[in-house]
Amino acid sequence: MSSDKTSITAFAPATVANVAVGFDVLGFALDAVGDTVTLTKTTDVGKIEIESIKGLEGLPYDPAKNTATVGLVKMLQELGLPFGFKVSIEKGIPLSSGMGGSAASSVAAVVAANGFLPNSLSKSELLRFALEGERAASGAIHADNVAPSLFGGLTLIRSTDPIDVINIPYPKLFCVLIHPDIKVETKYARSVLATHLSLHQFVQQSAHLASFIAGCFQQDVELIKRSCKDFVIEEQRAHLIAGFYDVQIAALKANALACSISGSGPSIFALAANEQDSKLIKDAMILAFNKNGISKLDSWISPINQIGARII
Ligand code: HSE
Repeated sequence: MSSDKTSITAFAPATVANVAVGFDVLGFALDAVGDTVTLTKTTDVGKIEIESIKGLEGLPYDPAKNTATVGLVKMLQELGLPFGFKVSIEKGIPLSSGMGGSAASSVAAVVAANGFLPNSLSKSELLRFALEGERAASGAIHADNVAPSLFGGLTLIRSTDPIDVINIPYPKLFCVLIHPDIKVETKYARSVLATHLSLHQFVQQSAHLASFIAGCFQQDVELIKRSCKDFVIEEQRAHLIAGFYDVQIAALKANALACSISGSGPSIFALAANEQDSKLIKDAMILAFNKNGISKLDSWISPINQIGARII
């Protein structure tokens, strides 16, 4: 459905990618935080101009370089749309935080643009445009932030070429997310990873991913707890986050079902079975960060966002 409006604003939620158990293939969206993009239609056909960026400093105003607009540029070109856009970006997600900030801006931009189309595209069709922003940010196509931000819920990405995203049902869970004031570039966090893993690691990780997914389908919180573990990536990135293992131990002691790196870090997420646990887990994680000299941090408790990006 097209809109006669001249301005459309869309919100896209932050995400926790990997979810410990599914590197590059699993992610969920959060309710508590996200990015907002407003598009104003102009008569400059094919032209995109970034008017304002609020919430973060130092982001590029060149539409070919800003992850919020890379997908939008492609969308305008490919669909041959007879207009252009002025773009205002409001970043709620901190930079290089492991909370899917590039993905959320990119998703919000294409969802807002979709509101102007005479025949709007499905979210599945929007995904490939939004992924362009992610490619620009991290140098690789991985949809484990973009897909949950767009669709909401817990998503499994079977393939990005062709795109095949599966929505996984899940029991009621709370996510605790702590963002220490450290920056970790996704490109760098990917460059530290070994390109091969042992047969033992492959067997161990695939068994845990499969049983995690089974636990979600069966609403079996204890199975989720036994399964949500990372045997491959976490140990290679832990050194990028001061106090990572102390924070993880503190969360698990406080009854977290799982605790690991959110995306490529430095944020750390934990899963809790109920809200009361989530508050205790959050306090324990913050204290552990404090003991490691990190007192500047943001924290959120959020249910899993069920609807994903939306026009507001
Ligand atoms: N799966 C990606 C990674 C998410 O861990 O590198 C980062 O955006």
